[in-house]
Amino acid sequence: MKTRITELFGIEHPIIQGGMHYVGFAELAAAVANAGGLGIITGLTQRTPELLANEIRRCRELTDKPFGVNLTFLPALQSPDYPGYVRAIIEGGVKIVETAGNNPQKWLPALRDAGVKVIHKCTSVRHALKAQSIGCDAVSVDGFECGGHPGEDDVPNFILLPRAADELRLPFVASGGMADARSLVAALALGADGMNMGTRFIATQEAPVHDNVKRAIVAATELDTRLVMRPLRNTERVLKNAAVDRLLEKERTLGADLKLADIIPEIAGVYPRIMLEGDLDAGAWSCGMVVGLIHDIPTVKELIDRIMAEAHALIDERLARLTDSGGSGRAG
Ligand SMILES: Cc1cc2nc3c(=O)[nH]c(=O)nc-3n(C[C@H](O)[C@H](O)[C@H](O)COP(=O)(O)O)c2cc1C
Repeated sequence: MKTRITELFGIEHPIIQGGMHYVGFAELAAAVANAGGLGIITGLTQRTPELLANEIRRCRELTDKPFGVNLTFLPALQSPDYPGYVRAIIEGGVKIVETAGNNPQKWLPALRDAGVKVIHKCTSVRHALKAQSIGCDAVSVDGFECGGHPGEDDVPNFILLPRAADELRLPFVASGGMADARSLVAALALGADGMNMGTRFIATQEAPVHDNVKRAIVAATELDTRLVMRPLRNTERVLKNAAVDRLLEKERTLGADLKLADIIPEIAGVYPRIMLEGDLDAGAWSCGMVVGLIHDIPTVKELIDRIMAEAHALIDERLARLTDSGGSGRAG
């Protein structure tokens, strides 16, 4: 399947694995790359630019296919060494960067000079148009369903994607709520050039996270996520657990007085304990509504091969039959 996204990034299938804190290590990015998708290392999970440089080297030992690095610009207690991370990416020879959060404009000239393609992840048409105007190469349009930060507009993908298709010139992928062939074919029908998945890729053999996390994803339903940090305008969709209940109780009690400092125990530094040690209640962790569609823990290759095979069958059989006047096979 060739789309503007497969062409832009030189990948076989129009499937991207979005950056995920303490999930997007070299093992997962390389597995996705080797299966023909675009795998992405999460830059800030590496505590220093030197560690990121090392992770990029490790990924290169695991695959000779293209892979990317995610750079997230979100409110943080201490601002990360972004110039150092950008240098590690460029010197590491990485040619694709996924940016997310704040406007990446400041970093575009250096990345462009180094021949790096930038896909910016955003949650509104307005931000996607901004990304287009500042010279990003593509955007990832993240609907309200998504795991992580859905923004503050709450527009689900059935509206957001066609709106993006109507407004954008540059290639874009659908992100948020994507799990299988149906997601991919629907995303293409709505005007996207491929799809980006987060939560689905956590429940794979190669995702280097604790089995408790994978099992929790398989066990959860679409009713099990919650939105936290809305009063701080830093909304995050997470899997509900004891820490999330506590956090939401603080939001209710403190109301407009809530400060980031009030919820530090539930959000700061919790990812290693959850993802690496499997302590699921250690804090709030991002998770999409798409958990309701995840029932197994395949290898990345099995997952991607299944999506592509079923997508072709969906298009060539089910959809083709609908347009066939006789209803008994493909027209023409
Ligand atoms: C555990 C987890 C951690 C994430 N961490 C990041 C991150 O650090 N930076 C980022 O840009 N997106 C992050 N995301 C968002 C994903 O890249 C992706 O946009 C999102 O998961 C898509 O929605 P889905 O989960 O419904 O597939 C994270 C998502 C999850 C589930």
